[in-house]
Amino acid sequence: MLAHLLAASFQRQFNYSPLLVRAPGRVNLIGEHTDYNGGFVLPAAIDKEIYFAVGLNGTETVRLHSYDKDESYTATVGEMRRGNTLWANYLKGVVAQFQKRGVTVPGFDCVFGGTVPMGAGLSSSAAVECGLALALDALLGTNLSRLELARMAQLAEHEFAGVQCGIMDQFASLFGRPGHVVRLDCRSLEYEYFPFNTDSCHIVLCNSGVKHSLASSEYNLRRQECEQGVAVLRQHYPEVQSLRDATPEQLHRHRPEMSDVVYRRCLYVVQENLRVEAACQHLMDGDLAAFGRQMYASHAGLRDDYQVSCRELDVLVQIAQGIPGVYGARMMGGGFGGCTINLVDVAHLDSFTQHISEAYQRQVGIPLETYHTTIVGGVDVLEPVQKF
Ligand code: GLA
Repeated sequence: MLAHLLAASFQRQFNYSPLLVRAPGRVNLIGEHTDYNGGFVLPAAIDKEIYFAVGLNGTETVRLHSYDKDESYTATVGEMRRGNTLWANYLKGVVAQFQKRGVTVPGFDCVFGGTVPMGAGLSSSAAVECGLALALDALLGTNLSRLELARMAQLAEHEFAGVQCGIMDQFASLFGRPGHVVRLDCRSLEYEYFPFNTDSCHIVLCNSGVKHSLASSEYNLRRQECEQGVAVLRQHYPEVQSLRDATPEQLHRHRPEMSDVVYRRCLYVVQENLRVEAACQHLMDGDLAAFGRQMYASHAGLRDDYQVSCRELDVLVQIAQGIPGVYGARMMGGGFGGCTINLVDVAHLDSFTQHISEAYQRQVGIPLETYHTTIVGGVDVLEPVQKF
């Protein structure tokens, strides 16, 4: 098991026993780019995870080691600033959040690594942030709530990775529950779990192989465009604090007051929020076909109006749509690459994987990686390792 390898690596490098923590990546069934608009999302934590071995070292030095990259990074606790080593920024960003809350963070050692593919839209960065946040909370006895840890991890992403992300990814990593998806109201932060049985319907991720390099600049731009739309609506409807409060009719009525791009961005978000609510009802009714139709509509909106898809993702969704046993498919996460999420009937699983891999290779010329995922619990501390 990976956690044992990390613990052994930690022991070899630092010569004492660490605390072990597991932090999952996430999928999002529906509700994309709604979180920073105060809307709804429907994510789940998955069995693609990052593991951490962490211990306090009694000095003022922070020693970080990426097991997957086989790279180390050292700095003093007074030097938790954004730097050129990108992977270290996520970890330093978390430490800085503890410090901002007045917590004195002493020197510590950390070895981390895992199975969440990078840049695939499965929130590897949130898993890294949330895992260290929980590890430090446990080691320092700060006893912060999971919501507080999620907020700190989100701010680490804002301040040290430069992405003005919403709270979905960090929330999903910390609040995941085995066998359940969670609907989060990103404004009130109220949430509700819904059972999702992956025995009969599998969640299959298809990795387009395109890294979402455009993602952070375009992501921040989408946020601004949404805010521009809200500013227009608010002149007429002071109660509209975010797109969550807006209706398609309001948008339509004031369309001439905004640019076409801003209108389409806002329309997508308003419709996507309605889709999440409808999709949750379908889930409760056990109607996966209707749920899947909401997913296809979500993809169409992301492609045509929000414009965060790319050709490879569109091809994947189009292929999936024609394969028997597929309930629904769409791009997932920030966009511009990464994975599509597909809901596939178990009886058709093998034929689905074979068909989509062949068709993708033929049409795009990239070998397709697929991941069959199960839904797991959120970040947790693992039992102490007995022997390395
Ligand atoms: C990224 C962000 C999330 C969310 C999604 C899009 O994953 O980190 O906060 O906005 O994109 O739904």
